[in-house]
Amino acid sequence: MKILFYMPHADAGAWLHDFARALPEANLREWQPGDREPADFAVVWRPPREMFESRDDLRAVFNLGAGVDAILALEHANPGTLPRHAQVVRLEDSGMAPQMAEYVTHAVLRYMRRFDEYERQQTERRWREIDPHPRATFTVGVLGLGVLGAHVAKTLASFDLPVRGYSRGAKQIDRVATYAGDAQLDPFLDGVKVLVNLLPHTPDTRDVLNARTFSKLARGAYLVNVARGGHLVEQDLLDALAHGQLAGATLDVFREEPLPPDHPFWREPRVTITPHISAVTLREDSVVQVARKIQSMMRGEPVTGVVDLARGY
Ligand code: NAP
Ligand code: GLV
Repeated sequence: MKILFYMPHADAGAWLHDFARALPEANLREWQPGDREPADFAVVWRPPREMFESRDDLRAVFNLGAGVDAILALEHANPGTLPRHAQVVRLEDSGMAPQMAEYVTHAVLRYMRRFDEYERQQTERRWREIDPHPRATFTVGVLGLGVLGAHVAKTLASFDLPVRGYSRGAKQIDRVATYAGDAQLDPFLDGVKVLVNLLPHTPDTRDVLNARTFSKLARGAYLVNVARGGHLVEQDLLDALAHGQLAGATLDVFREEPLPPDHPFWREPRVTITPHISAVTLREDSVVQVARKIQSMMRGEPVTGVVDLARGY
């Protein structure tokens, strides 16, 4: 079988080497502009539209990330871009869930134990004890209970924090109070002290982190956005911080990445910024997962992680 690979800024040689070991029968090549040779599968991250031109031979497009918003945006901007018969398959965990749990747990505990305030005190050489937030009311709400959100919610529950989770369809998770669907969004948000976003970026979830959402949370709540920058109405966050409705935010994703040097978030001490690293794609785990799925498809078996294009995730 023939496989096309495209991942900007990656060591393509290392990826192709690992894929060749996992799929010795495959004929692999890095996609270059103008490539019109036949291919059965594409393995990509943020591909250009041109990659899919005259590519109705593809059986599947494997996305080297959990979020498929960049691929679906190509289709949205130019309907018919995606190969007609190809399934879009995204990464499922492949080592991202533990990373996400580490990142979010770190942010939540930092706020609960008030390390953010101690960091600010240190810049003033100030020695002052601050009471930690009471655990019993330090409710963490996780938006999105998929592969990553469910793992994050379970991990937070293991710290005996009150944890809520929100998804589209109903879910049952041990020690997590679950809410589902539009009608349960407000009860889910009501009084939450840390709001963690792990929703996919779709037309339904765009701008979900907005002034209305923040107004439902406990006063002085915190935001942890690890999903996509397009979920957050940035000015609403700045206003909520200015008015004390929010006390801090940890942001890993932004509408524009890299975050421009003159962006006001850089100057806001209550905003903690990381450069989209909360859960990175791990080459070894991803190659194993994608290779297994390609082998299943070659045997005519169904695979998991197939994106519902209409739903957007
Ligand atoms: P997933 O398994 O597809 O889970 C998505 C969850 O969101 C599901 O629980 C789904 O509900 C829920 N959901 C979707 N639309 C909804 C809506 N309109 N209302 C309520 N709930 C909705 O995705 P995942 O693998 O956990 O990844 C989540 C996102 O994390 C990715 O899409 C990506 O954007 C982001 N991410 C970021 C990084 C990073 O480094 N910053 C790394 C990896 C992923 P159902 O379960 O009912 O379908
Ligand atoms: C990273 O942002 C991913 O979606 O995997």
